[in-house]
Amino acid sequence: MNRTRTPVTLIGLGPMGQAMVHSLLAAGHPVTVWNRTASRAEEVVAAGAQLADSPAKAVAASDLIVLSLTDYQAMYDVLGSAAEELKGRTVVNLSSESPDGTREGAAWVAAHGADFLTGGVMVPAPMVGTPDAYVYLSGPADVASRHEDVLARIGAVRYLGEDPGLAQLMYQANLDIFLTSLSSLLHAVALLETGGIKPSAALPELMQTLAGIPPMLAAGEDLGAQLEAGRHPGHLSTVTMMGATADHLVEASEAAGIDADLPRAVQAHYTWARSRGYGAENWSRIIDAIRPYV
Ligand SMILES: NC(=O)c1ccc[n+]([C@@H]2O[C@H](COP(=O)([O-])OP(=O)(O)OC[C@H]3O[C@@H](n4cnc5c(N)ncnc54)[C@H](OP(=O)(O)O)[C@@H]3O)[C@@H](O)[C@H]2O)c1
Repeated sequence: MNRTRTPVTLIGLGPMGQAMVHSLLAAGHPVTVWNRTASRAEEVVAAGAQLADSPAKAVAASDLIVLSLTDYQAMYDVLGSAAEELKGRTVVNLSSESPDGTREGAAWVAAHGADFLTGGVMVPAPMVGTPDAYVYLSGPADVASRHEDVLARIGAVRYLGEDPGLAQLMYQANLDIFLTSLSSLLHAVALLETGGIKPSAALPELMQTLAGIPPMLAAGEDLGAQLEAGRHPGHLSTVTMMGATADHLVEASEAAGIDADLPRAVQAHYTWARSRGYGAENWSRIIDAIRPYV
């Protein structure tokens, strides 16, 4: 192993943290780990990581500390007992949190004399360290550039700016699509089950629709430009047409006896747009049902 590489401490050994350790070890970084449940360290220790027997010792082992925890409360729970060791080091928290919770966390770390970066890993654990992996990062630009090479072992860094909440906002926005799509996929599977269509037969059909969304959006006029201009030409898929379908999906879900909250939330966007006379406009008008507006 190349001991000249930057030592890294990794705290939090769920699937994501373990994948990060493997990737850092493979690149030759000495890695010290700590996890609340010590047995979760066994595999990475076998691969070459050093297990610290307390958070304070883990922090003291490296100038760069990466956190992969469930949320920022876990950071307080873990680093609370190691706060005196933080001074002069850099904490990179790659755990999920709300943007405001992240800003509070950044202030807490800064109050203990450490630099702080926040981020979100945008691939599942098995893809960490592969060419497709990327990580949103925000915080002080000089700190980000100082650690970019090491963090790139996890995924290519996409730096968004100084505000620590920004990377988290981008992470949550992407998870917005991810989580809603997964729930809608399973909602559709459950709906088809009520018609006797098994998941294995349903999924190929549903995946075709899911995969068809990007080409559909790419084929039309630039959606970003339209949204920025507030232009919603109704020549293809109107609010009236899409809204009627949203109504039918709620009716179908209710008739099938499955949970209808997700389609009802979608229906509400179209109901809002129709009730304000936007029926002839493009479906994209529903963004104004979501935005804060006067
Ligand atoms: N898994 C993925 O594919 C994926 C993809 C992108 C981003 N992420 C993000 O990466 C982070 C970690 O994900 P994961 O899948 O590895 O999650 P996980 O399996 O839930 O692991 C979470 C880690 O946090 C620790 N933890 C939670 N609460 C704690 C507390 N109060 N005190 C001390 N330790 C605490 C757990 O310790 P114990 O082992 O003791 O429970 C564990 O090490 C999350 O923020 C997630 O959003 C995950």
